Amino acid sequence: MEVMGMKQMLMALVFLLFSATATEDYVRPLPRETISLPWKPRHPSLPQQVHISLAGDKHMRVSWITDDESSPSIVEYGISPGKYTSSSEGESMTYSYMFYDSGKIHHVVIGPLQDDTVYFYRCGGQDPEFKFKTPPSQFPITFSVVGDLGQTGWTSSTLDHITNCQYDVHLLPGDLSYADYRQHLWDSFGELVQPLASERPWMVTEGNHEKESIPLFKAGFEAYNARWKMPYEESGSGSNLYYSFEVAGVHIVMLGSYTDYDEYSDQYSWLKADLSKVDRKRTPWLLVLFHVPWYNSNWAHQGEGDKMMASMEPLLYAANVDIVLAGHVHAYERSTRVYNGKVDPCGAVHVTIGDGGNREGLAQRYKNPKPDWNDDDEPVQSDHVWINSLVNSGCILNEKNDFRKILISP
Ligand SMILES: [Fe+2]
Repeated sequence: MEVMGMKQMLMALVFLLFSATATEDYVRPLPRETISLPWKPRHPSLPQQVHISLAGDKHMRVSWITDDESSPSIVEYGISPGKYTSSSEGESMTYSYMFYDSGKIHHVVIGPLQDDTVYFYRCGGQDPEFKFKTPPSQFPITFSVVGDLGQTGWTSSTLDHITNCQYDVHLLPGDLSYADYRQHLWDSFGELVQPLASERPWMVTEGNHEKESIPLFKAGFEAYNARWKMPYEESGSGSNLYYSFEVAGVHIVMLGSYTDYDEYSDQYSWLKADLSKVDRKRTPWLLVLFHVPWYNSNWAHQGEGDKMMASMEPLLYAANVDIVLAGHVHAYERSTRVYNGKVDPCGAVHVTIGDGGNREGLAQRYKNPKPDWNDDDEPVQSDHVWINSLVNSGCILNEKNDFRKILISP
């Protein structure tokens, strides 16, 4: 890569890693209560819980809920306020969970859209008008990343931080609403995040608090899959629980910590195929997100990621993944480049960022002594780090390399 190109690439990927840990003179804040949003009378066809997500090249999925069953799944849009030059029709669904019946959940894919452009849109032929900005097609691009968001007073504080950042795409590695079977909390979460999630794409993967399974009665992730449809079909995956997408020179893989991941599983086969297709000339950055961290020196959830790591880490290493982002542990931690438990200049940097605003509070106890791969679990309020892509590092393996071969073996 040309010197200028490389420089641009290094400057390109800016992560906003929100941490709320403490310094010696800084007392870790206590958990905050769950927010209760006041009930407001509304027209049954009013679009509620509007959020958007990337849906293949130059397309966006718009999702919302209406109380009204007859409300159409239509999105009108254009680049001037009130002038809708295009419209698309989509799909809708409802689900029932115990005594709860969901509203009508709409998903409409719109596009092709121009890059880095503000669009105005409305849902179901109803006001109000919303607007979003599409991501840029080239570097620089800014991601915000928050795991374990929840809907407490701290969630509100985190959302304020995100609002103040000029980000392009939001990444959420699991534990969204903390509904935990109480379905109305999915609705209040949707309402809480709408101001942000209707303006920028929110790309999520699932955590344990999305599972909501009841043995012999309810399969898991029913509400999550219905409400937060991600581009799994667009990325060749058979499940909303794992998928990938590309944006502005970054290939991002969203994995599922709570669906099968052994080498005979569908997720493993899909991951292998997806990683083998990554073109580092088109997407020099390769990121992976999932909920349960593999490198975790916090005593919280210790060892929970070990089995998934044993199965899938060789695939990530063979593909030269740059960064792995996880949640679940309610504290910030960052590794050096690491593989198979050892510092390795060709491994991924692992970042745990699971302190978005959950109701359970911060995880404070770390192993002592620290593992060699630990780069930062120091108590700080905020953290900055430059990470260079492995492209041009000498680590990129070719297809003749024995390790790389696992990506293309049958
Ligand atoms: Fe979790």
